[in-house]
Amino acid sequence: MSERIVLAYSGGLDTSVAIGWIAEETKAEVVAVAADVGQGGEDLDVIRQRALDCGAVEAVVVDARAEYAESYCLPALKANALYMDRYPLVSALSRPIIVRHLVDAARYHGASMVAHGCTGKGNDQVRFEVGIGALAPELTVLAPVRDSGMTRDKAIAFAEEKGLPIDVTRKSPYSIDQNLWGRAVETGFLEDVWNGPIEDVYSYTQDPAVPREPDELTVGFTDGVPTSIDGRPVTMLEAVRQLNDRAGAQGIGRIDMVEDRLVGIKSREVYECPGAVTLIEAHRHLEDLTTERDLARFKRTVEQRWSELVYDGLWFSPLKRALDTFLDEASRHVSGEVRMTLHGGRAVVTGRRSPASLYDYNLATYDAADSFDQTLAKGFVELWGLPSRIASQRDQRLQSQPDKGAGAPHERGSVE
Ligand code: ARG
Repeated sequence: MSERIVLAYSGGLDTSVAIGWIAEETKAEVVAVAADVGQGGEDLDVIRQRALDCGAVEAVVVDARAEYAESYCLPALKANALYMDRYPLVSALSRPIIVRHLVDAARYHGASMVAHGCTGKGNDQVRFEVGIGALAPELTVLAPVRDSGMTRDKAIAFAEEKGLPIDVTRKSPYSIDQNLWGRAVETGFLEDVWNGPIEDVYSYTQDPAVPREPDELTVGFTDGVPTSIDGRPVTMLEAVRQLNDRAGAQGIGRIDMVEDRLVGIKSREVYECPGAVTLIEAHRHLEDLTTERDLARFKRTVEQRWSELVYDGLWFSPLKRALDTFLDEASRHVSGEVRMTLHGGRAVVTGRRSPASLYDYNLATYDAADSFDQTLAKGFVELWGLPSRIASQRDQRLQSQPDKGAGAPHERGSVE
């Protein structure tokens, strides 16, 4: 049997050409693997057939939607994951699940190499290769677009020469990557960071400026997991889908930012993540009600670190795994319901309730039911401010007697 190479296949021009390109370069057989992570668009059977028509010896399409929702989007929700406080990690979440299926396919088909169609300028090459290295260090990686001169023009020429069944004229002006958690759009006129996105850029969201009726909804959570919408039980996959539709219809989740890539480049990115943004907002408000103060404060630093690790391609790293354990523990008691109004591009929380609430009406109220003992506050405040008061007294003392203070500015370095 000849050597086999597993290729991460999207159905687009680059990876379709890569099938024949790799086969010619290496004399190996190419197995194409595509994963459905909720990107929509073309039917997966069509994509599978195209891979075969382009010369793949086998083409595998995996329905990974439920797995993606539960094992990738859900941990991101528990982490309220927003890279640079804005980006819900759309592409960064999908690469590790694709990697997992590539590695499975490589083992099943006895391949010793895995190939991807990424360029050398982005984060996705890092996520593929570092992920593959972590799951299957014995596999080697092939990157024809980056390493063997498979430029766009050469790809088009190759497709025409071989008569590949790809419409090379259907090139979008943007580079788009989309899945269940959202949609990423880059390049084209967006590369001028002063140019505003036009409506044409968006597809998951409607224009938030168009007047329409607000949409009120209630999201229920069980231990940090969304489990109901308007009282009806949902899986994670259903929750994200329904909120993509309902929040998308209100123009929620549009993000326009300049982002720091791992490879050192700043890039202009436009995202639309209606479901993700709405779920994170609801989840954070429920945490405000149910998470103890120190845990909540510490969790914020974990959230940021988790987001950076995932962005930087370290999904399968020991630290990321350990932080997931922390996030699961921190999600105990994040149960209850959040009511929101979706309107004009925003998801606004208007109410929350929980059997695990830490909100105590009798402590918080200013009316007669007040059970908070205010006499305890006097001594607490006194001791809380004690270190600052002592330090301030010291500063005043040294200022009024400059020559007595050790290290007073005029003494330092004096040689007179
Ligand atoms: N900049 C984003 C990220 O690194 C999105 C990348 C989108 N990928 C693409 N091939 N258009 O996660």
